[in-house]
Amino acid sequence: MKKIKCLITAGPTREHFDPVRYISNPSSGKMGWFIAQASKEFGWDTTLVLGPSALPNIDGVNVERVVSAEDMLSVCRKHFDDCHILIMSAAVSDVRPKMFINHKAKKNEIDLNPQLERTPDILLTLSKEKGNKVLIGFAAETQNVLEYAKGKLEQKNLDAIVANNVGQASTGFASDDNKIDVILRTGEVIDFPQASKKELANSLIKFLSDRFFK
Ligand code: CTP
Repeated sequence: MKKIKCLITAGPTREHFDPVRYISNPSSGKMGWFIAQASKEFGWDTTLVLGPSALPNIDGVNVERVVSAEDMLSVCRKHFDDCHILIMSAAVSDVRPKMFINHKAKKNEIDLNPQLERTPDILLTLSKEKGNKVLIGFAAETQNVLEYAKGKLEQKNLDAIVANNVGQASTGFASDDNKIDVILRTGEVIDFPQASKKELANSLIKFLSDRFFK
């Protein structure tokens, strides 16, 4: 049996204005971190590309730490060719400042109306070279969760998307529990009831293995 190679992203990205100021989001990286642990325990060869996070390395997982969306894209590119499945659970910042000041800016130097630009869409970029790989996205939403998630599944040419309501304290960004629905290309929606992120990560890897690698 071939050993499945799984590439996972997790955590936020930080898009710096200067060395001490940045745009980001409250993602803790926990969901993706537990998915990486579950993937390793399942026997998959696992690489975790982790944005800024207090979470430790995981024995037996190749953990690569990154800061910005641009870094995340370039590290993912390095591993993508070789992987069988990409699980993109990172909460990538959608925008970044156009200008970077390479020292700590003095108050008066800070532009009060900074120009922003979009970061690369990592999943969309990699999906252009999908081939036979299984691509799994995440959709963090606070409203119209299933509808928006289905849109992203189509737009990014994914095999499945994990829809996640981040508008609720008990299942939001930095919480210990989560509640997810997995939407497949067929339109099928699989409900995973609220549980700890660790339990959900184990169920998700088992589900993906049964669905895509049996
Ligand atoms: N994603 C990505 N690169 C980005 C933004 C998002 O690879 N610059 C990935 C996320 O990791 C996730 C999926 O795309 O797997 C959907 O991310 P999400 O933030 O929910 O949606 P966006 O595509 O950014 O769209 P919007 O912010 O308009 O909801």
